[in-house]
Amino acid sequence: MSKESEIGYLAATGEAGRQHSMLKPFSDPFCGINLTSIGTIMTLLPAPPARLLDLGCGGAWTSVFYALHGYKVTGQDIAPDMIELAVENRDRHGLTSEHLDFLCNDYEAIEGTADYDCAVFFDSLHHADDEGAAIRSAYAALKPGGILLTHEPGEGHSTNPHSIAAMEQYGVNERDMPPSLIIERGMQAGFSSFRVLPMPAELLHVFFERHYNKWYSIEAFNAMKRLFRMLYKPKLSASSIVVLTK
Ligand SMILES: C[S@@+](CC[C@H](N)C(=O)[O-])C[C@H]1O[C@@H](n2cnc3c(N)ncnc32)[C@H](O)[C@@H]1O
Repeated sequence: MSKESEIGYLAATGEAGRQHSMLKPFSDPFCGINLTSIGTIMTLLPAPPARLLDLGCGGAWTSVFYALHGYKVTGQDIAPDMIELAVENRDRHGLTSEHLDFLCNDYEAIEGTADYDCAVFFDSLHHADDEGAAIRSAYAALKPGGILLTHEPGEGHSTNPHSIAAMEQYGVNERDMPPSLIIERGMQAGFSSFRVLPMPAELLHVFFERHYNKWYSIEAFNAMKRLFRMLYKPKLSASSIVVLTK
């Protein structure tokens, strides 16, 4: 049932949903956070021109960013109307299929080609029915030494009011997808190593949300403690970026 709902999501959100997807990230209330996240992902990718598989690309705003930076991108999504919108989005940026092409299929059952340098799940793996199958697909798509990046919500996502509303209204999956689960499935798929990095939004929170008048204040000390913990002892339950190497 959830896959049918994933496929029907764009139509169910109507013209407003279509406009939101077409103009993302600028149409999104979290535009600044989205831009910080995509910038961070780009610093973790191999340099362009590498082949990149954007899994669950939706309206393809991320795919367009990667392609404009010089990657040879394949955007992939299960919903045919999302892919139609993604093609329109690509065309309006003056990109062609040479820079960005698309696959419309289920990321839990992609035929492995082992010819991508990198693959990314950007806010899409938590919509999977079977995250293990999706991560195995990504593994099979990658060259030896290739990397998979995930940018996914951790524990608590499935119980937050926005997620509950989306599940009730549209029937889509809004699962918790913490690093612990991604790493376990990644190791089962055959990935050889992993890194867990904080969500850029969390770093912004520490650096910018509050102004510390004195560097030696208890608040500033606690903020630094939190920062070091995020970097060197990350919580495997929290929303995070995970980097898996094949
Ligand atoms: C929250 S949206 C994120 C889209 C895009 N990555 C973004 O950041 O705007 C999740 C996307 O995953 C896609 N999706 C869900 N299940 C999928 C599956 N089994 N295979 C491929 N795509 C899937 C949905 O169609 C949707 O476009």
